[in-house]
Amino acid sequence: MPVPFQNEPFTDFGAEGNQTLFKNALRMVESELGKHYPLIIGGKEIETKTKAISINPSQKDQVIGSLSQAGEEQAEQAIVTAQAVFEHWRYTTFTERARYLFKAATLLRRRKHEFSAWMVYEAGKTWGEADADTAEAIDFMEFYAREAQRLAQPQPLVHIEGEDNELYYVPLGVGVIIPPWNFPLAIMAGMTTAAIVSGNTVVLKPASTTSVIAAKFIQLLIEAGVPSGVVNFIPGAGSEIGDYLVDHPLTRFISFTGSREVGLRINERAAKTAPGQRWMKRVIAEMGGKDAIIVDEGSDLTAAAEAITASAFGFAGQKCSACSRAIIHESVYDEVLSKVIELTRKLKVGSPLQPETNVGPVIDPHAFRKIQDYIKIGRTEGEIVLGGKAEINDGYFIEPTIIAGVSPTSRVSQEEIFGPIVAFTKASSFQEALRYANNTEFGLTGAVFSRNRTHLEQARSLFFAGNLYFNRKCTGALVGVHPFGGFNMSGTDSKAGGRDYLLLFTQAKLVSEKY
Ligand code: NAD
Ligand code: ALA
Repeated sequence: MPVPFQNEPFTDFGAEGNQTLFKNALRMVESELGKHYPLIIGGKEIETKTKAISINPSQKDQVIGSLSQAGEEQAEQAIVTAQAVFEHWRYTTFTERARYLFKAATLLRRRKHEFSAWMVYEAGKTWGEADADTAEAIDFMEFYAREAQRLAQPQPLVHIEGEDNELYYVPLGVGVIIPPWNFPLAIMAGMTTAAIVSGNTVVLKPASTTSVIAAKFIQLLIEAGVPSGVVNFIPGAGSEIGDYLVDHPLTRFISFTGSREVGLRINERAAKTAPGQRWMKRVIAEMGGKDAIIVDEGSDLTAAAEAITASAFGFAGQKCSACSRAIIHESVYDEVLSKVIELTRKLKVGSPLQPETNVGPVIDPHAFRKIQDYIKIGRTEGEIVLGGKAEINDGYFIEPTIIAGVSPTSRVSQEEIFGPIVAFTKASSFQEALRYANNTEFGLTGAVFSRNRTHLEQARSLFFAGNLYFNRKCTGALVGVHPFGGFNMSGTDSKAGGRDYLLLFTQAKLVSEKY
């Protein structure tokens, strides 16, 4: 039996030894840049005519790697292969499948800095953010492997005389896994391994901007002995093969993490029954956020300002959990705003290759333009009190930007920007602050800073968010500690890293024998 689950510790980069190890990993990865990665279907490497390159967002002329791109022909091949392999993978035991995850987690732990270094290059993550992403990927595999062992145990049922009753969790079938780029290792690995440890086979279509990290992870799964065809890897544009994968009659479920727009599209298409389809498709969809931190009067304003700064600007605000709205009681508004300005001024924007960098680039030119547009909108909806400059030089850098005096109904308060921008709104009472916080179609994370027990209890029941935090930041959920997923347009509240998660990839079968 494995030891009880414990979160993978983060690396202390203050220690000189760790700095050296990480610099070595960066150098090693640099020597591997520019390589080519094929599709992998049924264990076979497949090249296609269409290739796409992945680039470094902080140095846009640096190619991270090139990838063959799947079209409909390869998407078909991947689904048919996954279906064929499912016919025997489905009868392996949870316990056996868990071993692949334990082994993959161990291999990843051994090569932790290498994987984090890939994220520095391909996703523009700072050292700390990349390290946390790798730690979370290890956590997901360690946690889901243990969960699989739990589900393998006899499930508690009420006993009646003269009958033997047992309930088993059986897999669903072929799953299409569609992850986002912003946790290119953790979310992609978590979604994939949760599905396969539950006995499903999958077709993984990675996010285009971070496909090399996904390719590296597939190699790790192969090294861990995951049989051919259990995970089929088909990089390609979501806009080109996404619909085909979702609509396919052999697709049994879609596990998606990404934007509201794409999630809703998948949900609608999956609801249509294709000719020959024998099931209702299941959709697990985790989508965007417009997350708020409320600061009450009488709370610890320094801690609140630190939490807003960290939650708003960590990974340049490119987290579904990021604080994009700071809703502050009017009696402490000016003080909190000036503390956040002061802390944000100290953030160093630049290449994440440098250990001292706090805020790296945004992911690509599309994100850069979109965020720039919101800065323009922000100028008309409030006052830009810090930042606002967006420059493409070597990469896609945007200054951490604070917009003050924003109405809770303005566009910058309502729409997911997914960049380093936080909107400050004044509330005349705690109740008004709660109303503003809930005035969104999303419901992912939120935080409240207060010393008032009555207010905290009000927030506990009224603040409508899947992950609500008191007196701490609203990012940084830990596997097993803070199962993660949101309400309303933030998705199906699938609670990744929680005890309910694997059930989403299974169906329960009851067998009753009368004696
Ligand atoms: P996105 O929706 O643009 O892309 C997500 C994935 O969907 C990518 O792999 C993309 O290739 C694919 N895709 C695109 N069009 C498709 C289509 N028509 N059919 C099928 N797949 C298609 O999102 P993104 O930019 O990669 O990620 C950022 C978004 O993800 C933000 O909205 C963020 O809030 C959200 N997110 C949510 C969570 C969560 O747990 N709730 C976690 C991380 C990110
Ligand atoms: N799970 C990530 C966080 O909590 C998105 O920040």
